[in-house]
Amino acid sequence: MTSSTSDLEAQKSFNDDNFLKHLEEAVKKRKNFAIISHPDAGKTTLTEKLLLYGGAIQQAGAVKARGEQRKVTSDWMELEKQRGISITSTVLQFEYNDTTINLLDTPGHQDFSEDTYRTLAAADNAVMLEDAAKGLEPQTRKLFEVCRLRNIPIFTFINKMDRPGLEPLSLLDEIESELDLATFAINWPIGSGDFFRGVIDRYSKNVFLFSKAERGKQSIERRLKLDDPELHQLVEKDLLDKALEEIELLEVAGAELNVELIRAGELTPVFFGSAMTNFGVRPFLDSFLKMAQGPVARISSQGPIDPMRETFTGFVFKLQANMDPRHRDRVAFVRVCSGRFQKDMIVRHARTGKTIRLSRPQKIFAQDRAVVEDAYPGDVIGLNNPGMFAIGDTLYSGKRVEYEGIPCFSPEIFCWLRNPNPSAFKNFKKGVNELREEGAVQILYDIDQSKRDPILAAVGQLQLEVVQHRLENEYSVKTRLEPIGFQVARWVVGGWPSLKKIGRIFNCKTVQDSWERPVLLFKNQWNLNQLEEDNPSLSLSKVAPVVSGVNPINL
Ligand code: G4P
Repeated sequence: MTSSTSDLEAQKSFNDDNFLKHLEEAVKKRKNFAIISHPDAGKTTLTEKLLLYGGAIQQAGAVKARGEQRKVTSDWMELEKQRGISITSTVLQFEYNDTTINLLDTPGHQDFSEDTYRTLAAADNAVMLEDAAKGLEPQTRKLFEVCRLRNIPIFTFINKMDRPGLEPLSLLDEIESELDLATFAINWPIGSGDFFRGVIDRYSKNVFLFSKAERGKQSIERRLKLDDPELHQLVEKDLLDKALEEIELLEVAGAELNVELIRAGELTPVFFGSAMTNFGVRPFLDSFLKMAQGPVARISSQGPIDPMRETFTGFVFKLQANMDPRHRDRVAFVRVCSGRFQKDMIVRHARTGKTIRLSRPQKIFAQDRAVVEDAYPGDVIGLNNPGMFAIGDTLYSGKRVEYEGIPCFSPEIFCWLRNPNPSAFKNFKKGVNELREEGAVQILYDIDQSKRDPILAAVGQLQLEVVQHRLENEYSVKTRLEPIGFQVARWVVGGWPSLKKIGRIFNCKTVQDSWERPVLLFKNQWNLNQLEEDNPSLSLSKVAPVVSGVNPINL
């Protein structure tokens, strides 16, 4: 393929010294993060407050209102509407204090899917949001584990301080002992619930007073010095004394604030606040932006690729089908990793070696789309995907690069997928293969060749519903799901030879994944523990090894 004018222009600017300066500025200016939380912790509320500061929305309530009022634009959205949930995860970009912030929004429902995990693969930082009354919850723990795989920095926001909550010290203790993550409280609460009086900033020794506003209204934040005599008239002595004693304890026994450790994912700064009343959100955002890491170098087959590499590289972390049924489109979300992305640019697709023009890149804000002219490391763009892209694919210009793929995460729900109508087999096969390629669900197979029906393996129930819904609507096949009675899956490190060495194993079922690698299914964690105890030489993994350059088996 010959180079286009814009490609030549791009090349020209790459040779330009100004370009490098421009790229450096763009990289320095960017911060990207995802929020990890359990449903109801207040993610939507916090997101909305953050967007308000960035001027991306004009009024509180806009994020929710948008969700409720939006038109049904696809069958996909129809499913969302029926279930009253949000499946699509989008990327919200906004400017705040000279920083371009990309907030990677993860689906909020507890029936979350692999998309939620994959979105974290594109994030450089994570905000862990906890409800002060509940502490760590199951979904947060799972998402944290994924962040741990890449050691991304975690910033903790303990929300709903205006409601009775757990003791702040035990909230920190829980994070330290259960997640094996050191904590450093940036501010410390004075009381909680009806007795929440505000927070003490440990660094500036300022006290931010909280005055309860009407539900949903912004609180009025008053700032006083800790030694201001007026403070004692405004805050009960016992509450203030308790907070000060606890801070003293932290000074003596707690970790020190060390940005290096934060960036290595070993220490989490903790903030207390209340998203609903907008208390503590701005100080949180300001500190977050100071300490969060910018776009980081990503691991590739050629070693780490610096975001300042002059030529564009990026990888696909999510595919979304049918965002608009009139066009039966699929959008591939690409995280820009290095260089500058430009509209109409011609790039190479690492897996196939093909040359492609990226002609209609989009920025997607909630359901709205705008054409992107250019994008930089840390940004996310949506590309129309005529079936060419798969999760983990690398796009590059210049010297060949292939990023480490996105791993498959351990599924927890398994069902046989039956096709009761043999005459629809062709469509069934096509649908199953395409949905797997798209990453909508993982497919496992029985090792007994005669039982060739696929086993759907998902991390959330919703994925199964989406697959059935799409098979019916897009491939005209009505299918039946049959539970298989297993709940835990593990990949065998070392593959078939390692499994053979162990000999006969009990209380688990051996199946194979789409790359013909052995996967063990267990009825429960107890059975898994038992097998591991009995066979210490067997190494099992929660995450499938990354594959690249190998084609999976089809149905
Ligand atoms: P999610 O996206 O994490 O699922 O949570 P969301 O923001 O929807 O918040 C869940 C509920 O918690 C909402 O109440 C929200 O108003 C409330 N909430 C969020 N932050 C705070 C906070 O700081 N303090 C208090 N007291 N409540 C908070 P809801 O009744 O379910 O919805 P709504 O009637 O407020 O819309």
